[in-house]
Amino acid sequence: MEQITIGQAEKLTSPNPFALLTVQTPEGHTNVMAISWWSYASNHPATVVACLSSRGYSGQCIQSSGAFGLSVPGPQLKDAALRAGTCSGRNMDKAAELGIPLEACGGCSQKMVSGSRLWISCKLKDTLAVGDHILYVGEVESLLADPSVEGLYAWEGYGRLDTVRRNDC
Ligand SMILES: Cc1cc2nc3c(=O)[nH]c(=O)nc-3n(C[C@H](O)[C@H](O)[C@H](O)COP(=O)(O)O)c2cc1C
Repeated sequence: MEQITIGQAEKLTSPNPFALLTVQTPEGHTNVMAISWWSYASNHPATVVACLSSRGYSGQCIQSSGAFGLSVPGPQLKDAALRAGTCSGRNMDKAAELGIPLEACGGCSQKMVSGSRLWISCKLKDTLAVGDHILYVGEVESLLADPSVEGLYAWEGYGRLDTVRRNDC
């Protein structure tokens, strides 16, 4: 065994989970952000956590709206979803400019990404500052799925998005 960095550890656990986080902005639009650091956290009540850099725009929007959504997108959004992780919604409408289709969902507090494998919509229950990130605890308000859509995963840390094929792992 050898000493490694946390960034190297993230590559060694690849593929990692991936989702597009959607959140309502104070202006009433929907911001979209690429997120790999999310996890299930409780079955009863159904709860997930999402870890966001304290410098990003989405975290501010979660704090003001009190809700967020996680959409696991399908392969057709591979390029747009990666780009949603390289620019901030502070100065652009990412969904419109990157061509990420959104739709309203009954029972969800914000729009979700169309054509996804999974939608998890949450109400914010708690936050915890963790170093340079803030962990958002979301109690699930709605869970919807289309298992016929292949989901995207984060490969090589944050480097690439792709589906999981039989010979990949
Ligand atoms: C594949 C991928 C995964 C990412 N995962 C996270 C993450 O888990 N947490 C985070 O804070 N940023 C993550 N990012 C970076 C954010 O998506 C990026 O900082 C984005 O510009 C923030 O947008 P916003 O300012 O509109 O919120 C990821 C980027 C990529 C490409």
